[in-house]
Amino acid sequence: MSKIEVLNLIGNTPMVHLKTLDPKPGVEIHAKLEFMNPTGSIKDRIIAYMVQKGIEAGYIKKDTTLVEGSSGNTGASVAMIASCMGLKSILFVPDKCSDEKVAIIRSYGAEVVVKPASAPSTSDEEYGNAAAKKARENASFYHINQYNSQLNPEAHYMTIGKEIWNDMDGKIDVFVATASTGGTISGIARRLKENNPKIKIVLADPEGSVYKPYFDGKEDYLSYKKSFKVEGAGKGALVEAMNFGIVDEAISFNDENAIGMVLRLARQEGLMVGGSSGGNVWAALEIAKRMEGPAKIVTVMPDSGFKYLSKIFNPTWLKEVGLGHLIAE
Ligand SMILES: Cc1ncc(COP(=O)(O)O)c(C=O)c1O
Repeated sequence: MSKIEVLNLIGNTPMVHLKTLDPKPGVEIHAKLEFMNPTGSIKDRIIAYMVQKGIEAGYIKKDTTLVEGSSGNTGASVAMIASCMGLKSILFVPDKCSDEKVAIIRSYGAEVVVKPASAPSTSDEEYGNAAAKKARENASFYHINQYNSQLNPEAHYMTIGKEIWNDMDGKIDVFVATASTGGTISGIARRLKENNPKIKIVLADPEGSVYKPYFDGKEDYLSYKKSFKVEGAGKGALVEAMNFGIVDEAISFNDENAIGMVLRLARQEGLMVGGSSGGNVWAALEIAKRMEGPAKIVTVMPDSGFKYLSKIFNPTWLKEVGLGHLIAE
């Protein structure tokens, strides 16, 4: 397998203070710009780490095909790294995945299989289950399995968790993040709590995800599943990479909150980001409003707004989904 030069470009992303959002003197919101990674998302970190571990363990060899289910960003990272290494890859994505994300994955030479986002979480049609089923078909297929592998949170613990602590010189009061696989929040929170157990961890969860109802102790948490537009955040079932034990509070946001914040970030801060970044910053601001300075709230911007030019940044789409009023705001 060829040397993966692009691996050197992953991580060490900038941390920025979102100055125009500070709600009160001394209460600051900082965000780690993960869209600066080579494929425009945080997922390059986990795939570089997980593929390296797979090679070291002897599971990934020259003739291996990488197989994964992804809301789109992990797919791009798998496809990019497979292309660098001369491997094949097959990615299963839900049909709510933006056209840009599918085109990016295909551009790296991967095969893309689109599955219905509405498929029940136990069905073979659900994109994660479809990937797992495909991987069982052939001994040369390797299932990355970001939703259930502990290597996913470990990658965040080993990379971005350390970076966030160093970027902020350890001065962090609250860390806020959405969860889908849960790798980001679980891995970063573990690192931050190890360094300072007083840091509060807040899960920002889209309405329609089952994570907040589960965290709140609702027995019928699965019945809270409904569709929503923000991609990459929330989940319709529990997965093993998500550690609820490390979360102190969960906050809900809706599409309007998240997408409204995305548009505001582009106009006010010059940052073009995806919907989950909007959800993260919206939730961080809700927490900031309750705090007195000095206080530092940290979050992540998981992916680039360039992946949503046909959706969030397209007035026609905004009108179609009932968010046309956000255009003029
Ligand atoms: C855009 C975006 N934001 C947030 C997340 C959530 O990250 P994690 O899977 O680590 O919980 C994802 C993951 O799919 C994503 O693609």
